[in-house]
Amino acid sequence: MSLVKIIKIESLGDERGNLATIEGNNNIPFDIKRAYYLFNTEKGVSRGFHAHKKLKQIAICLKGSCKFILDDGQHKDTVLLCSPLEGLFIESMMWREIHEFSDECILLVLASEYYDEDDYIRDYLIFLKEVELNDSFVK
Ligand code: TYD
Repeated sequence: MSLVKIIKIESLGDERGNLATIEGNNNIPFDIKRAYYLFNTEKGVSRGFHAHKKLKQIAICLKGSCKFILDDGQHKDTVLLCSPLEGLFIESMMWREIHEFSDECILLVLASEYYDEDDYIRDYLIFLKEVELNDSFVK
């Protein structure tokens, strides 16, 4: 099963252009507590390299493109985000890396929680250990 879950965002288009709407607990499957965006990303820079214990996110590439690697500790999938009408749903306990930001890329991220550094796992080996621990707890 692919880790890539894309939410299609509807838009209204007329001769003036397009208008797309995002609503928490409607087309976005959680209450949106925070939004942030990455822009002016320097050439060759990759970001992410962390997972969140609790936080869920939706990433929408409003302009340009970038490549996500998602990793749940057992599988990895890659997806190119290049449309303002596609939201990538990133579950909790998902290692993510973002590579290949195009020129002028604007990446919007919607988050289910306020910023909390304690929710981050920034060490890949600790992430793998946490996944193993959760799995043994579930079994
Ligand atoms: P981080 O989430 O680590 O982004 P990346 O993995 O792409 O580098 O955030 C970078 C820095 O910004 C980090 O010091 C935490 C800070 N930050 C906030 O203060 N508030 C926020 O909402 C976010 C997302 C980050």
